[in-house]
Amino acid sequence: MAGIPSVSSDPGHPRCLDKPSIALLVLNPFWSANLVGCAMPVQFSSKLQSLLIPSTRVVVFTGAGISAESGVPTFRGQNGLWKEFRVEDLATPQAFAEHPQRVWDWYSWRRELISRIAPNLGHLAVAKFERFFSDFCVVTQNVDGLHNRAGNERILKLHGDIWEVRCVSCGLRRMDFQPVLLSLPPRCECGGMLRPGVVWFGETLPVDVFEQAVRATQSCGLFFSVGTSAQVFPASELPGVARQHGAYVVEVNIERSAAASEAHEVLLGKAGEILPALAESLQGAMSGSTPGNNV
Ligand code: APR
Repeated sequence: MAGIPSVSSDPGHPRCLDKPSIALLVLNPFWSANLVGCAMPVQFSSKLQSLLIPSTRVVVFTGAGISAESGVPTFRGQNGLWKEFRVEDLATPQAFAEHPQRVWDWYSWRRELISRIAPNLGHLAVAKFERFFSDFCVVTQNVDGLHNRAGNERILKLHGDIWEVRCVSCGLRRMDFQPVLLSLPPRCECGGMLRPGVVWFGETLPVDVFEQAVRATQSCGLFFSVGTSAQVFPASELPGVARQHGAYVVEVNIERSAAASEAHEVLLGKAGEILPALAESLQGAMSGSTPGNNV
């Protein structure tokens, strides 16, 4: 795959993953339902149910929406961070070069907030998926580390990790889980300034991680797109890549995202309700009982 495109939310940004044309959403008449922990039964197709077997290769692609129920603000939803703050002031290399204190104050605020909260039922369900499916990985845009804390191990972090710090002088990278750093901007042992280990707008995604994510997406049989508005390139292209390579694509979101047209099935609702219901159905598959009888 030609050079890794940089992060952009600019719709005019050249799309190089040759996304196929808009596909029709396929509705299947046979629905199963699960009532586990949610107000309304979660209905999903027997096609999806039939794929909930250990041998299915699965990718779960996540965005800020999966962490919303834990109390982590999303970016573009209601009370989203980009409604209150400007990207140009806080999430670009230029902003950091010109105002490192301001950028660190903001990341420190987010670190402190995330340190006080826990993974929710949605994260825990994704951890259950990893234990169930023999070939599985999480591809996440989130930097909050909640998938790790929920127990996932096979995680590809497209946009870095807020708990990582990097030295802008010597290139040192290390994890630092202190909720509040002693001094801001923090300094490296070499004296250089440390920056948050995240990918900012205009920066390139980690090449190896992105290529692994694309390979996993191209070879999976079931692709879940959970809690993302699918507006930030190149991550936003992954649902289309999955569909183009024959995966069954399922979107889980409280509203249809920009990539909903790539989904064979859209499950509208909270990730913390829908994913546990799917996880319950996994067990059904394991225990050989007919899906839906868990109700
Ligand atoms: N369950 C499921 N989906 C939810 C929930 C929930 N409880 N709450 C919100 N959502 C959905 C919203 O409808 C929206 O589609 O989550 C999505 C969040 O979208 P964004 O805020 O745009 O976050 P994301 O898609 O992860 O952003 C991508 O943009 O700002 C950059 O680098 C940042 O990784 C981030 C990237």
